[in-house]
Amino acid sequence: MTPAIDLDRARRDTPGVAACRFFDSAGASLMPLPVIEAVRAHLDRELLVGGYTARAEAEGAVEEVYRSIATLIGARPDEIALTDSATRAWDQVFYGLEFSAGDRILTDQSCYGSNYLAFLQAARRTGVEIVALPDTPSGELDVDALDQAVDARTRLLALTWSPTASGRVNPAAAAGAVARRHDLPYLLDACQAVGQMPVHVGELQCDFLSATGRKYLRGPRGTGFLYVHPRMLERVEPAVVDVRAAEWQSVDRYRLRADARRYETWEMNYAAVLGLGAAVDYALNWPQDGVWLRIQELAGRLRAGLSAVPGTMVRDTGTVQGGIVTFTVAGQAAADIKRRLYEQDVIVSVSSPDGQLLDFARRRLPPLVRASIHYFNTEEEVEDLVARIGSL
Ligand SMILES: Cc1ncc(COP(=O)(O)O)c(C=O)c1O
Repeated sequence: MTPAIDLDRARRDTPGVAACRFFDSAGASLMPLPVIEAVRAHLDRELLVGGYTARAEAEGAVEEVYRSIATLIGARPDEIALTDSATRAWDQVFYGLEFSAGDRILTDQSCYGSNYLAFLQAARRTGVEIVALPDTPSGELDVDALDQAVDARTRLLALTWSPTASGRVNPAAAAGAVARRHDLPYLLDACQAVGQMPVHVGELQCDFLSATGRKYLRGPRGTGFLYVHPRMLERVEPAVVDVRAAEWQSVDRYRLRADARRYETWEMNYAAVLGLGAAVDYALNWPQDGVWLRIQELAGRLRAGLSAVPGTMVRDTGTVQGGIVTFTVAGQAAADIKRRLYEQDVIVSVSSPDGQLLDFARRRLPPLVRASIHYFNTEEEVEDLVARIGSL
């Protein structure tokens, strides 16, 4: 049986739920108290002894952050690099890869905008070809098509697991099995998956996994991390190398660190890093499968409710759907809906086409309202949101 979530405790730990009805955990979620306390405690030390001494005092706590992240995703601490965003983590890998004209990058229809922009830039610079794999009829990555698409010119599989819009959850582990069989480097954007669903890098068989702190993990803004499989350390140089990543051994020689921290850069906001660690520890206090089940149930309830509102269309696809619910209301712009809800202390966001352009263009979608659910949301909040949309 999937363990239940102690909703009272979750809400007691989350002051934001008393201030608003919050449906933007896929944007930047509400931090629980231990996160904000960890950030504040470090800032207080910085106030008194300065950033370097505060960092030195926090040495053990910072090491714990790597251990906590590793525990959360089934990795080893030396396979983790800390970054200031998911994009930075992803870029450190992508821009470290070398492409030539005629090489191919395989991606999916729900590829995140920043990642696709990087593909376009690489295509312009090197002539690498971008192949967006087709969806199944139910609207997620077609893994058989992936298997058939891999050829001698394929250099990278770069997928988005839980995309910015559209509810779908791509079959990241099935894709990983294909990638491993072809010995194809696999870069997985897990930005919106970590904290939402159980994540195990061994099961995913990914070589790289990028994630952010502020979304489903409920950490501070300006945090992220990268997982790197050891087999990739020598195959993919970090895009940016600084004194954190490497040792300057002699005037004309440097040596990269032996672990995943070669993908880091030296300066970090350690208050935020410790907040990230607190967020991961907090997440580890909850049953991951219980969190995932509750999110899916609540989001399913929201989709069903919205679908019954005349003029409202849920725009999500996929066989497996997560906590991200996107929809349109006939005759009303998404930005106006967001603003009107904000005036009622209800927080949603808008997914614009350029966040996921392949998918939006193919389905001719306008900007969508995005209401993203976390386990701390209640059934009552979901019903209330449906009612508010009905009476707009
Ligand atoms: C699927 C996906 N990947 C990557 C990102 C970028 O994350 P960050 O802003 O932490 O770089 C986002 C942000 O919304 C996202 O939705």
